[in-house]
Amino acid sequence: MSGRLPSHNQLVLPLLEVCNEAGGRIHAQDAYAAIEEKLSLTPAALEMTVRGGGNTTVSKFHHRVRWARHHAVESGLLQSSSRGVWELTAAAEDKLCRNQTGIVFTIWETELGQVLWGTAEQAAAVIEPGSIDLVYTSPPYPLLQPKEYGNLNSSDWLKWMGDLAEQWSGLLADTGSLVVNIGSISVAGKPFKDPYVARFEIDLIDRLGLHLVDEHFWHNPAKLPGPVQWVSVKKKRLKNSVEHLLWFAKSEDFKSNNDNVREAESPHTTRFRKNALESGKGLGRRPGGSVAGKGFLTSNGTSIPSVLQVQAHEGPHSAYRRACKEHDIRPHPAISPLALPDRFIRLTTEPGDLVYDPMAGSLATCYAAELLKRRWIGSELSAHYIAGGTLRFGS
Ligand SMILES: C[S@@+](CC[C@H](N)C(=O)[O-])C[C@H]1O[C@@H](n2cnc3c(N)ncnc32)[C@H](O)[C@@H]1O
Repeated sequence: MSGRLPSHNQLVLPLLEVCNEAGGRIHAQDAYAAIEEKLSLTPAALEMTVRGGGNTTVSKFHHRVRWARHHAVESGLLQSSSRGVWELTAAAEDKLCRNQTGIVFTIWETELGQVLWGTAEQAAAVIEPGSIDLVYTSPPYPLLQPKEYGNLNSSDWLKWMGDLAEQWSGLLADTGSLVVNIGSISVAGKPFKDPYVARFEIDLIDRLGLHLVDEHFWHNPAKLPGPVQWVSVKKKRLKNSVEHLLWFAKSEDFKSNNDNVREAESPHTTRFRKNALESGKGLGRRPGGSVAGKGFLTSNGTSIPSVLQVQAHEGPHSAYRRACKEHDIRPHPAISPLALPDRFIRLTTEPGDLVYDPMAGSLATCYAAELLKRRWIGSELSAHYIAGGTLRFGS
């Protein structure tokens, strides 16, 4: 039993929980009773009063619950559906579906892989050190406006992600790679880019001793113009439609084969090669000192670009979104196109190797690994996202 009355901040989560337990909506009077019981409040705590309007006194506990409700409404977690009835919003349902138990559960598996429900921090503790060939992930990147799954400012993000990268590095085999997909952000209120990506790279190199193999880019031409203030309103900057794919290796002996990710050569390059071969221009000594012979310009019709040109996320008609709709599950708000993990899985692993996505979201990396016959592990905080992701795998 508790003789202390919780503060209104401490009452927000119990309030959301009792609302959830009542099926998503609850009458105020029932909410008071359910919270009283949930928190085992003593009669003494419940008898405390505060002054109300006029000369009246009201229950201090009810007063605090109403403040908690006010706070939850302001944070977008509760809404009033009718007078005296409080209802969870979709964002609150998602928050309640996050694993806050401190325990990692294996909640679903295939012959090749398993999904762990829990935080990346806790999941790292249950994975065998040195067993992973590729850690591929798209963490929530820092944003000044929090998204529904919670983003931090860039300095807190760097500390968080630096600690996680240290755990991931310990999980990697000596021949393993870590690939992190992140986007750019701007300095708040300024027309400048936040250099957090460079800081992150340098931290992993200097502090963790990882090797930066390369920076690849995902060009998404369909991205909306942003940052809006500096691109569309003040017209100073150009649209940012590129995300980073930072590729680190644990040692010089990292596993990789670029033949596995060759793409068809562009008609422009084929024409250029043909013209150069016919005219002999471009052969001989190059500005860097190397000598280009005819072999330099012959081609097998493929190329190995470091910029991935992939149109937006899986569109409204994709199998994943259709399946979510059929099962009445909200799709993940930040899905990676399968082509991104697919490229790095092909490049740095072989069938049977083990791929891990610590922040697996809609299980895009896990699904790409499954299709490529790699073993895989995905960990994710939100049960909603896992539920949607499992639909990718069919029945
Ligand atoms: C950008 S999304 C990943 C999207 C994923 N690549 C996909 O294609 O669906 C980031 C994910 O990290 C999850 N997340 C945030 N913090 C986490 C943590 N500490 N541990 C595990 N997952 C976390 C979020 O719930 C979110 O689904």
